[in-house]
Amino acid sequence: MVVSPVFSNEDFSLLKTTMLNAPKTPEVYDEGFGRYHVWDPILTDFTQKALVVAKEVFESDTLVPSYTLFSHYQGEKANLLRHKDDNACTYTIDMCVYQDTPWDLWVDGAPYTLLENQALAYYGNDQEHWREEFPNPDSNYVAMVFFHFVEPDHWWVTKGPEWIHVLRGTMTEEDFYNAK
Ligand SMILES: [Fe+2]
Repeated sequence: MVVSPVFSNEDFSLLKTTMLNAPKTPEVYDEGFGRYHVWDPILTDFTQKALVVAKEVFESDTLVPSYTLFSHYQGEKANLLRHKDDNACTYTIDMCVYQDTPWDLWVDGAPYTLLENQALAYYGNDQEHWREEFPNPDSNYVAMVFFHFVEPDHWWVTKGPEWIHVLRGTMTEEDFYNAK
């Protein structure tokens, strides 16, 4: 479902200004997605604000934040292939922070056009999501923040974020426990 608006105008404008001005440096560029992953401490505060929204939208008083990611897509490499998430994304709130030309987000076969301070709430691990061609790649940019939530019995909480490496087969269980 679409959540609109996600935050109050005042809160949103602080988030937008902060992330618009945050440096998009080569060190935080992810070539695979054609996007910059920028972290700013303000995202911690906004995760707490998004938590209130998530509890209401997903009708769960017990869900907790797993991780939050800000992504600024730009250029001809910008893409999001069809996938379901394997990370701690039981509940996902994908929110548009700023953009030039909107770039529809598809979930389970339906396109959603998001404007600033609007989000799509869906089940990241269970629902296929993707984007088609990036419009106007010469000049376009689209910035999103992904808020992810899980229930307290999720492995993210019980075993920790590093457990993903065991699930992906890039670390053995033994190594995981030895590293603890
Ligand atoms: Fe995803």
